[in-house]
Amino acid sequence: MKNQQAIQIAEGIYCVGAIDKDAPRFHGYHVSHGVTFNAYLVRGTDGKYTLIDTVHRDKTDELLGRIASVTEPKNITALIINHTEPDHSGAVPAILQTAKPVVYATVAAAKFLQAMYGTENVQTVKSGDTREIGGRTYSFLATPMVHWPDNMVTYLPNEKILFSNDAFGQHFATNQPLDTQNNINTALTEAQHYFANIVMPYRAQAAKAVDAALSLPLDMIAPSHGVVWTKNIDRIGKLYQSLCTGESVAATLVFDSLWGGTAERAQEACDELRKTYEKITVFDLRTDHMSDVMAALAASKHLCIGSPTYNGYPTPRIGTLVAEVEALRPPVTEYSLFGTFAWGGGASKHLTQKLDALGLQKTFDLTRA
Ligand code: FEO
Repeated sequence: MKNQQAIQIAEGIYCVGAIDKDAPRFHGYHVSHGVTFNAYLVRGTDGKYTLIDTVHRDKTDELLGRIASVTEPKNITALIINHTEPDHSGAVPAILQTAKPVVYATVAAAKFLQAMYGTENVQTVKSGDTREIGGRTYSFLATPMVHWPDNMVTYLPNEKILFSNDAFGQHFATNQPLDTQNNINTALTEAQHYFANIVMPYRAQAAKAVDAALSLPLDMIAPSHGVVWTKNIDRIGKLYQSLCTGESVAATLVFDSLWGGTAERAQEACDELRKTYEKITVFDLRTDHMSDVMAALAASKHLCIGSPTYNGYPTPRIGTLVAEVEALRPPVTEYSLFGTFAWGGGASKHLTQKLDALGLQKTFDLTRA
């Protein structure tokens, strides 16, 4: 029987989301510590409740169960939707069926809610707007492209709590929601993993939103994934600011191998990189996950790729790596190559064309038969 108790994180403020410790993937990529879909229930001074975000449709029963441990759903009179991606909006239809809340969202989110669920009469809010709801003050800050155009964050100025949705989130399933109750280094590692695979392509826009959010007086940042930041706001803030600027002096080496030849040459490439880079992280795509590679690339200047030639091309796994680099746009500015071929070659030629077209600068190529 799943635990469906709400967890109070501040006076009258409860975590009522869903926890899935066994989820192997999220948004199509590998996760190591499960997933949470955080939603928050806030009791007003009038005894009514505001729900901030919901959960994935498949987790609706867990959300309703946790809400029921605090109050009857009919007492939810306001629903704030910070972001309409299905992991946060999937239970909107169920909430609207069991309660009749006023829905608050950005103009973009209101359009998406209408398109996705037929939701009408959303009260739209914009950056800087403030609403008194149930005796508490709520402020809204639009954060477009962190991670969709519709994103915003919700701030309780009197309580100094920021409900940040995807920003500062991590894939880290835990029944103890506070950062101080968990391994902080794991939470920060997972925050970088999350940033790389979700937020990284939009880091220029994210930088402005993150700076604006961090300029607020903050006692608590409550994201919609993972732990709630309390004593470590400074550390997650610095990590985000560093990842958003993309300044790095590290290298990431990634290789695939068919018969072991390219794997054997990884050390030679590493030695070459060592002349310039102190920190080098190595991944073998035969066993390592692409999402972990992207987490390392989020803090790398150099990408070194090792690939055999496979019917005239890089291997499919290396092809996927290049596609991920093109889509997620890590801050790398340089690349290098190594690898093997038997009779035709081709991997180096195709990788050079592709990576040059992405604007990266080649520093060396150790590919040979
Ligand atoms: Fe957690 Fe962009 O959704």
